Amino acid sequence: MLGNFSYCNPTKLYFGDESLNNLNAELPEYGPNVVLIYGGGSIKRHGIYDDIVEILKKNGKHVAEISGVLPNPTVDKLREGVDIARKHRADLLLAVGGGSVCDYAKALSVSVNCEEDPWQKYYVRCEEPDCETLPVGCVLTMVGTGSEMNACAVITNPHTHQKFGHTFADPKIMPRFSILNPKYTLTLPRYQMAAGIYDIFSHICEQYFSGEDDNTSDYISEGLLRSVVHASRIANQDPQNYEARSNLMWAATWALNTLVSRGKSTDWMVHKLGHAVGAYTNATHGMTLAAVTLPYYRHILPFGLQKFRRFAVTVWGVSTEGKTDVQIAEEGMAALENWMRELGLVMNISDLGASEDMLEGIADGTVITTGGYKVLTREEILEILRESL
Ligand code: NZQ
Ligand code: ZN
Repeated sequence: MLGNFSYCNPTKLYFGDESLNNLNAELPEYGPNVVLIYGGGSIKRHGIYDDIVEILKKNGKHVAEISGVLPNPTVDKLREGVDIARKHRADLLLAVGGGSVCDYAKALSVSVNCEEDPWQKYYVRCEEPDCETLPVGCVLTMVGTGSEMNACAVITNPHTHQKFGHTFADPKIMPRFSILNPKYTLTLPRYQMAAGIYDIFSHICEQYFSGEDDNTSDYISEGLLRSVVHASRIANQDPQNYEARSNLMWAATWALNTLVSRGKSTDWMVHKLGHAVGAYTNATHGMTLAAVTLPYYRHILPFGLQKFRRFAVTVWGVSTEGKTDVQIAEEGMAALENWMRELGLVMNISDLGASEDMLEGIADGTVITTGGYKVLTREEILEILRESL
């Protein structure tokens, strides 16, 4: 652990199949006006909405709703929510859904009292809020992003084909509490379950494939990666397996609550590529990552050879006898590919709606990070995108 760092995570978690009851304990902490935020309707179909509205009523809350926060929430939807939250004089933003709904609530939290345009301020200029922010609580129904315990909010601007995340510096932007009931995730369509599993895996890899020093964070990452692979195989065979789904839920939270990045640089290039693809296609986040991963990792493997070798051995159990480091590392990539195919992930960006004529624009929208094993040039980005087609 050669770096200097701080670690603070104030989000309170309630986990388990009875965790929603804890909403009763949290609500009295906030004023009477709650804005309930949710997506396209899955919470109504599966009874979660009714349970939550009953608890809100029992606690005497005045409720306004923002519904229809769809996957990859847009800046237009954010502006609409600002008006609703202002009119309602919101005391608490309660997000019920997946990463899109949780991210949206955080973006709203910093926008309600902001005089400037939130897209320009937070996503183009990447500034921190200088206005009063609103507290956010989450009830999570989709597993993957880790949004339930971090300060990041990803917003898409469909007019400019840009999808950017902002990780706010102030821990107050993190959800004050998050309720994690693995049972809620049992109704996810298989496609979303697989996308979420790959999102978890990718978050850990983004923080693992960097640095040279011996770092406890990497050992924690390896344990999490093994747990995700193990649980995903069970869930893939038997999606109703509560134990596997609960392990995935817990792993997702720890994969992106900043724990495993302590004392390290991080890469995040798979996400930057995935977000740029998403900005053009509106595709499911986890699938955009899957579709660019292998061309990217095979491209940077020679620059981070020892880490890719270690990944092969510790995560995939590749034997080392009689093999060169390159052979071992490449076997690790092959094991990763087999597992991705087993889960039914989308392996090409063309299957997500991307086409050759979009590649220049996608490359323009790809933010280049510098914390991984190779700082890419624009030409390399285009090459990786072409290989991902
Ligand atoms: O909208 P509804 O009807 O609720 O349906 C949703 C949505 O269509 C459905 N769903 C959610 N829970 C369900 C359910 N269907 C049945 N049963 C349930 N229990 O699932 C679909 C996807 O939901 P969404 O919230 O979009 O998925 P996810 O959690 O993957 O969130 C994706 C967004 O998060 C961002 C992504 O870029 C994307 O915008 N990310 C946020 C991060 C963060 N805050 O740290 C990091 C990630 O890397 C990611 O970029
Ligand atoms: Zn992600």
